[in-house]
Amino acid sequence: MKRQFSSQDFQNIAAFIAGKTPHRPKIAFVLGSGFGDLVDALESPTAIPFQDIPDFPQSSVVGHRGRLVFGIMQGRAICIMQGRVHFYEGWSVEHATLPIYVLRALGIETLIISNAAGGLNPNFQPGDLMLIEDQINLVGMIGHNPLVGPNDPGLGPRFPDLSKLYDRRLRELAMSVADERDLALRRGVYVGLAGPAFETPAEVRFLRMIGGDATGMSTTNEAVAARYLGMRVLGFSGISNSAIDTIDSEQETTHEEVLAAGATLVPKLTSILQGMLARWDEAE
Ligand code: HPA
Repeated sequence: MKRQFSSQDFQNIAAFIAGKTPHRPKIAFVLGSGFGDLVDALESPTAIPFQDIPDFPQSSVVGHRGRLVFGIMQGRAICIMQGRVHFYEGWSVEHATLPIYVLRALGIETLIISNAAGGLNPNFQPGDLMLIEDQINLVGMIGHNPLVGPNDPGLGPRFPDLSKLYDRRLRELAMSVADERDLALRRGVYVGLAGPAFETPAEVRFLRMIGGDATGMSTTNEAVAARYLGMRVLGFSGISNSAIDTIDSEQETTHEEVLAAGATLVPKLTSILQGMLARWDEAE
């Protein structure tokens, strides 16, 4: 199987983007469903719609704008990917992770990924923020892994180690900032699913049994690609709903509920990110 995009493609797309903004960030955030308003925290923003960028995949999901926004936060240049595409929209995992390869070609060294997730851990409540300590990439484990295909050793190793996927020092900094600001920060394992249907109660109990604390339809392949490319990775799940674990429940899960939780979660995540950027030297 040939790969669709090469190192040269990533360089060309990165050069196109660099020509549209004066900012030269080393840190990027990927914003999940309902987190879009976090861009308001950027000073001197320049926004580039995905549709203007060659080969960039376009999101069809409500709540995902589809822009790269560059700007300044706490005196540091930042790139925010506002919206993403998902496997369930029909994109190959290679195409869905193209933006991550392009961010690397742009000089990004640290990728901070966020998502909206269903809470599997019975102690979690909607509105909680969870620091991702580790992940189970169920989509990747059944063969939809972004690294499948011929490997370009100029980009990363054939068999990357993922035993330290989510960077320890960045996690420690996030926890310290949360503590300092009196923000409750949960910790746990994120399980990445294909979606788009929400899980059955039997599936929810299965995900809990295999060690999941939160689950969603994104993030895991982005994290794998970023780590492969040598980036440091950090992740946050906004718990938007409690996953329903019994067929006798009166509740239902809806996308509207997932988006609504963003209103509570954006201020918390913004505060933690700002606190981290202010103390960034400690994580370097
Ligand atoms: N399951 C899967 N993905 C999700 C959920 C969920 O309950 N909530 C938000 N994204």
